[in-house]
Amino acid sequence: MKLAIINGPNLNLLGKREPEIYGSNSFDDYFRSLQKKFSEIEFIYFQSNIEGEIIDKLHEVGFDYDGIILNAAAYTHTSIGIGDAVKAIETPVVEVHISNVHSREDFRHTSFIAANAKGVIFGFGLKGYELAIESFL
Ligand code: DQA
Repeated sequence: MKLAIINGPNLNLLGKREPEIYGSNSFDDYFRSLQKKFSEIEFIYFQSNIEGEIIDKLHEVGFDYDGIILNAAAYTHTSIGIGDAVKAIETPVVEVHISNVHSREDFRHTSFIAANAKGVIFGFGLKGYELAIESFL
């Protein structure tokens, strides 16, 4: 089983960025714990602050991998291009958000990804990525 985890803008700052919302763990540390816990799964992890790079990565893995876990961060709420890419590929995508986007500002209630996602998980902190992995097992 091959799963890709793709994180969008500012998620490279996890652990340092607004820890009251996003927690104090870095994603690199968390990713290592996921690799240990799900040692039977072949993971790749990709993070970019650039919309087109996220689209390119979706195209790259989206016809080959068994699942994609996508936290497009702020691009979730703005990017028709990422939404179209999720629609265009064959690999199922689970949309994840660390925070409960529906308890936050109104602009975070819109997702250009959700309509074409296999499912959406939000509000459970980093644990959401684990729940997304389990949804593919
Ligand atoms: C986020 C929620 C987005 O609204 C925000 O722009 C992020 C992170 C989350 O994981 O909670 O950068 O996707």
